[in-house]
Amino acid sequence: MRAKASEMASKDCVKVAVRVRPFNKRERDAGSRCIISMTSNSISIQDPRNSQNSRTFTFDYTYWSHSGFSRNKDGLFVPEETGGRYADQASVFLDLGQGILDNALQGYNATLLAYGQTGSGKSYSMVGYGPNKGLIPTLCQRLFQSIRSMQDSRQCQVFFSMLEIYNEQVVDLLSKSSRSAGGLRVREDQQTGFYVEGLRRVPCDSALQVEQLMEQGTRTRTTAATHINNSSSRSHMLIIVQLKQIFSKECITKQSNIYLVDLAGSERQRSSGSEGDRLKEGTAINLSLTTLGNVISALADMALGKKIYIPYRDSVLTKLLQSALGGNSRTVMIATLSPADICYEESLSTLRYAERAKKIQNKAVVNESPTERLVKELKAENAKLLLRLSRLGQEGRKAEDESKELRRLLTHNELQIRAIQTLWEQHLQEALKDWETQYATITQERRMMQMYPYIMNVNEDAQLSSVVKLFIQEEGEWDIGLADNSPRALSIRGLGIQEKHAVFSNQQRRVSITPVSGAKVIVNGLQVSKRTELQHLDRLVLGSNSTYLFIGFPSERSAEDWSRYDYDYFQSELAAAEGFHIQSLCDDQGHRPHQPDPSLLAVFYDYIKLMPMVTEANQMSAELKKGVEFKLEIKNLAMSDSKGHDLEKDIAVKVTSVESKQVWMWSKAKFINRKFLMEEVYQQQVAGGEGADRAPLPRDRDPFWDPLEPLHLGSAHLWLQSLAFRIPLEEQVEMVGPEGTEEAILQAQLVPCSPAGLALGEDDILIDPSELLGKRLDFQLVLDQCCGLRWVKEARNRGVQIGFQVFDCPQPLYTPAVWHNVNPLLDHRVQFTALRTSQDLLNYLQSNALVLELWGLQEGCSELLSNMDGMKMTQEDSVIIDKISASEHLTAETGSSDLSSSLRALHQDLDKLRNANAALKKENSALREQLNSSRNGVENNRGRQERRGSLRPSCDAEFAKALKVFYHSMTSVRGQLQRLRRHKPSEEEDLLGLRLFVDEHTFLLKDFSEQLEQCVSTLKHDVAAIVRRKREKSGVWS
Ligand SMILES: Nc1ncnc2c1ncn2[C@@H]1O[C@H](COP(=O)(O)OP(=O)(O)OP(=O)(O)O)[C@@H](O)[C@H]1O
Ligand SMILES: [Mg+2]
Repeated sequence: MRAKASEMASKDCVKVAVRVRPFNKRERDAGSRCIISMTSNSISIQDPRNSQNSRTFTFDYTYWSHSGFSRNKDGLFVPEETGGRYADQASVFLDLGQGILDNALQGYNATLLAYGQTGSGKSYSMVGYGPNKGLIPTLCQRLFQSIRSMQDSRQCQVFFSMLEIYNEQVVDLLSKSSRSAGGLRVREDQQTGFYVEGLRRVPCDSALQVEQLMEQGTRTRTTAATHINNSSSRSHMLIIVQLKQIFSKECITKQSNIYLVDLAGSERQRSSGSEGDRLKEGTAINLSLTTLGNVISALADMALGKKIYIPYRDSVLTKLLQSALGGNSRTVMIATLSPADICYEESLSTLRYAERAKKIQNKAVVNESPTERLVKELKAENAKLLLRLSRLGQEGRKAEDESKELRRLLTHNELQIRAIQTLWEQHLQEALKDWETQYATITQERRMMQMYPYIMNVNEDAQLSSVVKLFIQEEGEWDIGLADNSPRALSIRGLGIQEKHAVFSNQQRRVSITPVSGAKVIVNGLQVSKRTELQHLDRLVLGSNSTYLFIGFPSERSAEDWSRYDYDYFQSELAAAEGFHIQSLCDDQGHRPHQPDPSLLAVFYDYIKLMPMVTEANQMSAELKKGVEFKLEIKNLAMSDSKGHDLEKDIAVKVTSVESKQVWMWSKAKFINRKFLMEEVYQQQVAGGEGADRAPLPRDRDPFWDPLEPLHLGSAHLWLQSLAFRIPLEEQVEMVGPEGTEEAILQAQLVPCSPAGLALGEDDILIDPSELLGKRLDFQLVLDQCCGLRWVKEARNRGVQIGFQVFDCPQPLYTPAVWHNVNPLLDHRVQFTALRTSQDLLNYLQSNALVLELWGLQEGCSELLSNMDGMKMTQEDSVIIDKISASEHLTAETGSSDLSSSLRALHQDLDKLRNANAALKKENSALREQLNSSRNGVENNRGRQERRGSLRPSCDAEFAKALKVFYHSMTSVRGQLQRLRRHKPSEEEDLLGLRLFVDEHTFLLKDFSEQLEQCVSTLKHDVAAIVRRKREKSGVWS
């Protein structure tokens, strides 16, 4: 039953809805798969790596907005067919918005929260885009409709506020005065709870007015965003609609607060984590969101009966949402999801979050405000006064004096009542006047858009794009920059923007831009230094990262959809100019472009996401004179693991000290965290203006600084196959850097040896590697010399070490450090021993390489030390590998228990049997030889034996050589096979595309089989030659 009496608290849970949006461009480019499915109120998500692994959740509402829609003539996204499953904005409003409105009209507080990862559709649902209006504007429109339809029974007052929480600071988005440093304060009132002190409350009486206020708020948000942080995704936007309903007849006043919250992108919680960073996570990077999660979890636990502390006070957001969560409010959360497989982790975490939120219990009550109670009380008093007056009237003249007094009181009370009520009217009139001037500005802007060329801001958050428009009006020159001291100046703010940054000139209906010296201006991805003529839809980047689209004269404007020039487009264009092009990822070594590998695409998008941040970090470093430069690198672009499989690619940021040439390598997460901390420092020291804190930061708190560490420069592969045949290998291998550059050449050897370390001879070469099984294998890794070290060539005060990890060794081993030498002698030799070669080790030798990692040392950084914990050594100081079989062996040797002694006995038996077997084999072959010799009638048996003795090694050596050639040629065949494996058709390929794919695949296959045939036939040919020679020499056929 709905609560009617104001005192009655209704206990109800937070209602939770989930909505899944269509694929975006990135996801379509990546050929993403939809992993979300929905049936009535349940939603399932499938793990893209394991289709068996699927999780199902149930919620109050689920909305399928992924497919089955079309755009109608008004630009609205609607279901393709009537009754289709596509949930459009109207149907979402009907369930969620209408409920909020009904609650508010009944006098309850109501809250609507949107939660989800960046770009998942929070703002689309809450605010909307273009004609597809979201919950907030529709709710306001319906609110005023309701107010009008009910105006006979009540008087309504609506106040509108809009604020942003960024970095734990509250910014009033509707404030008329300039932004106060440190933001507005959040205070607590004993009765009403937390509120924002000095927040502007604008009286409103139409939906149009609200829309205009939202536009104004978005404009403020955009300006703040372009000022320093480009990413509004890190800020929370709150709209507070206060509704007061005065029922004069019933003498009741109801007051409700509607909180509409568009939360910051949720994924930042993890991706910006400071794992492994020396410095703590940027204090407030997402404190509000993290605390919101904690509050929700605690409330969910409380609903299960646990007594638990709710950390509302830990962040600004949770203070303001205290009543919405577990308090006096009816609350709805809409969790928005991307449907794509690449967002699995984030979507699952959103669903888990939503699952917890639905357990929260609120206690909503219908509210009466104290002011209205006063009116009620005054009215009640007046009623009493009137009653007394009428009685006095009956009592005659003697009561005249008293009546006079009563009348005075009565008028006073009435005046008071009117004063309370007219205050609203006055405020409304003032707000309307304000609104009219604002509205005139907007109309003026719309008119100018139809007359002049202009530049329009493009923001990472689509909600904040096309908000700022700067017009290049009549003919002549227009300065653009920080300065706003002349009527012909276009004032912009942002990192790296100079007082006077560039000059636009508008002559004979052509617009051009000329950068002022030292100012960075990029047109369509390329930096310009001279006057450059602009074309309609040219992309401009001013300073570090202020992005604008140029809109030409109305006559030049085509019907082209401008929305394709979004933030991603700008960044991709810049990346392409740096040589990192999406096409290059799709190109497979000169063959036809194909569907790019999703992991490569993810790297590409990470790259373009981090690119503007790196530019900004460089700008801040320059302005703060930090002397470090940041550069994006792709980790593992050319790296493979010990099996030759490509390593997962990732983005890293290389930090270089300009003066000392010291280098650091930061992970993506660390860089994001540091960038946030840099912004804090920058704000304090530069953007803070006069009186800002300019004291240099101590090193240990400086986000630009880190202690030096050895750097991973590259790696080389030494294939181990030859060891399985006990053939020595001597190679010069290229040590390749993460992006494929040659870092050095390394001379290395793998030498099968005796336990004492003496190299084995050709006699010991095995034809069949399985002969190694169960036997002891000793080999040495010899690292002779490193040549042409790029790292040391760049700065002589550097050194290197080489690290390697063999089979089951728990830690890598390192060569001693060598310093200041481009071609250092390493002369490093390590012996490894498998006491009883296992099948695992044999497999490893046959299919793996030893990866030799090159580590760069810099002055002041500590060297890498081999950690011998958990390593076992033989008496000869050789490192024991293949420990499972070794431990059997060792247990048998030490043999203290019954089991180990019987094992030892078994081993001894086995050895005896092996010896007997070998003796029998020997006898057998001797007998065969005798037989041969008697067959061939050769008299001197001894001479034959000598000949055989000299023949075997040479044949085996030839055989080994042939094998070696074979292995080498197989390496390139293996590469070709990997290429073939990666080569897949796109799912969206049409018939022609598929045909082309088949042709190309056939070509690749042919190439592969030719290479393979060539290898095998060379091997056959070599083996045949060896056999022939062997037969000739042994004289079998002579
Ligand atoms: N249901 C939907 N139907 C069609 N397009 C959608 C839908 N939801 C989102 N989009 C589109 O996806 C893009 C990103 O959506 P939106 O701006 O709402 O994300 P967000 O969650 O607010 O991200 P941020 O955290 O960065 O603010 C927009 O271009 C929007 O038009
Ligand atoms: Mg948004």
